[in-house]
Order: sequence, then structure tokens, then C-alpha cells
Amino acid sequence: MVRHFLRDDDLTPAEQAEVLDLAAEFKRDRFARRPLEGPRSVAVLFDKPSTRTRVSFAVGIAELGGHALIVDAAGSQLGRGETIADTARVLERQVSAIVWRTSGQERIEEMADGTAVPVVNALTDLFHPCQVLADLQTIREVKGALSGVTLAYFGDGANNMAHSYLLGGATAGMHVRIAAPAQLPPDAAVVERAAEIAAATGGSVTVTADAERAAAGADVLATDTWVSMGQEGKDTSLYEPYAVDEALLAKAAPDACVLHCLPAYRGKEISAAVLDGPQSVVWDEAENRLHAQKALLTWLLEH
Ligand code: CP
Ligand code: NVA
Repeated sequence: MVRHFLRDDDLTPAEQAEVLDLAAEFKRDRFARRPLEGPRSVAVLFDKPSTRTRVSFAVGIAELGGHALIVDAAGSQLGRGETIADTARVLERQVSAIVWRTSGQERIEEMADGTAVPVVNALTDLFHPCQVLADLQTIREVKGALSGVTLAYFGDGANNMAHSYLLGGATAGMHVRIAAPAQLPPDAAVVERAAEIAAATGGSVTVTADAERAAAGADVLATDTWVSMGQEGKDTSLYEPYAVDEALLAKAAPDACVLHCLPAYRGKEISAAVLDGPQSVVWDEAENRLHAQKALLTWLLEH
């Protein structure tokens, strides 16, 4: 049966570790494996803007020996009302995998249900699992392991990054803390699923409105924009106590590292001093999108 990657828990803990091992191998040797030799094509579809995801998939697919077909929805029939099911049936006749950045999680699920090739979530409103694979690779490089590591995320607890840290971090056996306004908590079903995974992996899940409590002794601090794509004009005042600044970083473990998926808004969710400071690993994190996604595509095509 074809495997998809629509949410972080589509990989078991053992499978996630395999993908991360392969990502490390690709980082050592960018041309270690070429499963798309031919070239085979991969459709990479965008309903929303992107820099990192677009570039890393295009470069990665080329380095795997394949051809990336980058399609903006606005320029395709999908943007004019052709159904997802019909698009899925057409694409599977021509490409080896489909990568899609879209809004509703149900949209990417419908694509996966309608096609015989692997479908990869390149960000939905609910999850950003490719980003969290890259983040896990980065944490593993810096901390030497994932199991038992404490990651604290601050700000918009109800967005795709928070949800993917919950599922992806729990799968890796991490202690995931989400600090967010009490009125704007993460999705309850995602928290419940993450807690269930954590119970099996030795990790844990904490949701709190107390930023200082979340930061205390943490190994990794993470944040994301307060205004995700599609939320322009949103009131962000409730997030202000959750800004990742030097005072918050001082509460974390002395050797804590700082993640941000980017794009970042200095002076909002993160201070310039922290983002551009010595504990920030955001540029490695951005590079790792390439290695992690090459590993993921290779793994999916081989399963
Ligand atoms: N982090 C991330 O997904 O960036 P882009 O929106 O630029 O792809
Ligand atoms: N939460 C952000 C992530 C951007 C990569 C968004 O959805 O816009």
C-alpha cells in the first residue's frame, strides 16, 4: 500500500528515526542516493506562497535525479474549480509523487485518497510535518539525540507548527511544551493524539499559558509567526507575553538552542538579538529542509 506523509504521526517512531538517519546521510553526501533517476517527475503544488519549501523541494528532487514540476494553484485548473479527486487521478498517471501546500487538512487527505502515488504535506493550516522533520534533524545534530530532550514552543499554539511539534516531537520521545494564550489553545484532538504517542515513546506533552514555566530548563526554544498565511489582519496582542527574547532565553538551559521555521518577524514573535544570536540554529534548520525532504521522498518511494 502506498505511503503518504500528511501529518507527523504518519511515520512510526522507528520510521521517523530511519528517515532522520537517511537525512544525515544526505547531509554528508548530497548525492548518496538517486531514487528519481530517469528522470522521474514529482509535482510540487502551491496554494500559498513559499520560499524555503519551494526551493528545497526543487533542489532536492533534482539532486535525487528527478524533475520537479512546480505548479502554483493560481495558474492551474485546481485554482479554477477542478476537483481535487480529478486532479489526483490525472497527476498519478504522470508523476511519481505529489507534494502539496494547501489550506485545509481535508484537502490533502482527499488528494491522498484519490491517488496511487505518495502525497506529501508541504504545509496545511493544521500541520507542517516536513518542517518538523528538518527541525528534528537540527536538534539531533545539536543535542546528539531526540529522546528525552525538552522542546518549548511559544506563541500561536493553534497553528501548524505547534501541532507538528506536538505530534513529531512526541513521536521522537521528546518532552513538548506549548506555551500559548489560554484562549487560543492547540487543537484538542492533536494534543490528545500527541499525549497518546508520548505515553508509548517516553515523551510528554504540556500545554500552558505560563511562558516562563515552559521555558524553565528547556533544551530547545521554538516559535513561529503570530500571523500565519491566510490570517492577515489578525489581532496579535494576546501573543505578546510569549515573545522569545533574551529574558525568556535566560530561563532555558544554558546550552539551549533556538529554532524558527522562518520567515521571522523580528521584534514580534522573536527578538533580533535571539534570532541573530549565538544560540540560534535557524540557518541550519532551513538548510535541513533539503536533506530531510530528500530522505522522506526516498523513504516513501521505497515503501
Ligand atoms: N518554513 C517554511 O516553510 O518556509 P516557506 O514558507 O518559505 O516555504
Ligand atoms: N505558521 C506559518 C508557517 C510558515 C512557514 C504559516 O502557516 O504561515
